[in-house]
Amino acid sequence: MQTTLLSTGGPVRKSFRQALNRSGMIVRQYTSEAEQLMDFAASTAAGLGSRPRSIQCRFLYDARGSRLFDLITRQPEYYLTRTEAGILAEKAPLIRKICGPTTLIELGSGSSEKTDHLLDAWLARGSSVRYIPVDVSESALREASRTIVAKYPAAQVLGISSDYRGAFPLFRDTSPVTLVFLGSSIGNFAPEEMTLFLHELSQSLCRGDFFLLGIDLVKDRKIIEAAYNDEAGVTEAFTRNVFVRMNRELGSSADPAAIEHVAVYNEARERMEICARFCRRQVIRIAPLGQDFVIDDGEEIHTEISRKFRIEQFIPFLEGFGFTTEEVFTDARSWFALLLLRRNGNSPAGQGGRS
Ligand code: AVJ
Repeated sequence: MQTTLLSTGGPVRKSFRQALNRSGMIVRQYTSEAEQLMDFAASTAAGLGSRPRSIQCRFLYDARGSRLFDLITRQPEYYLTRTEAGILAEKAPLIRKICGPTTLIELGSGSSEKTDHLLDAWLARGSSVRYIPVDVSESALREASRTIVAKYPAAQVLGISSDYRGAFPLFRDTSPVTLVFLGSSIGNFAPEEMTLFLHELSQSLCRGDFFLLGIDLVKDRKIIEAAYNDEAGVTEAFTRNVFVRMNRELGSSADPAAIEHVAVYNEARERMEICARFCRRQVIRIAPLGQDFVIDDGEEIHTEISRKFRIEQFIPFLEGFGFTTEEVFTDARSWFALLLLRRNGNSPAGQGGRS
């Protein structure tokens, strides 16, 4: 498989457009290792220095973190992936019928496994498909692209290794598209981040483009909490892994064994709140910046939130960003929903957008 390095800024769209005409290859949006490391160091230092202390959840997904998350999705308690895949398996042909032969772009594709249902539907009756996975983990992206190219020779796969927003400027060149954002990953956003994300996404899509969004729904807290506290301890390993990564990349010298994974459902805010609780005092070093942070015994560092949604509240909110709801699909227990939205000609919320 070929790799193309893209530089950020102007040339990125040009090489992207050229790459669109080739197939079975990976495109990597290029930020140097040094830039990535400084981003990790600076974001982490800022998070550790603020109260409550926090680490941005996108850093959970290095190669090992992505593998651990993939393992989480197979745990008996983690109902999200299984439930969403069930809905997709049933509805993919209808979704394809509504969306037509659009380019599929998937944000946070990870191992891309659920995507098979969509690819099957898009490739039915001998048609072809262009699939553009976007993921912060380049290793996960490479593995997923290799698997998909092998399984679906008729698919053109173009991986973009980037955070979500880094990929937005490229959408314009691929319209008509169906933008796929599964797994309730949208629930990771804090309220301000959610607004910014939806605003920018809406601006990046063209009128008529589709947006397929997976959301986890409000339900009995015992079911939700169990999903983030699996018996096998995979989620705990996932939370600890960001410190393993910090030790390796930032010289942090944290002891992962002295870090407890704490995941509690906040009923009032309808979200999971996940943190690392320190079982003894530790000094965390951010070597590239020459900074030390003293974390006391019992202190917590927030790593993730995972919001749970109510369809009837969330849809009007989404529609405020210039989307129209085409279909709402749920499972028999109403645990999870897939929303099929469409970018309309109306300005998104906030500043006056384009149409
Ligand atoms: C990938 C963000 C959807 O919030 O359920 C799972 C991440 N963290 N277990 C989620 C996660 C711990 C997951 N998302």
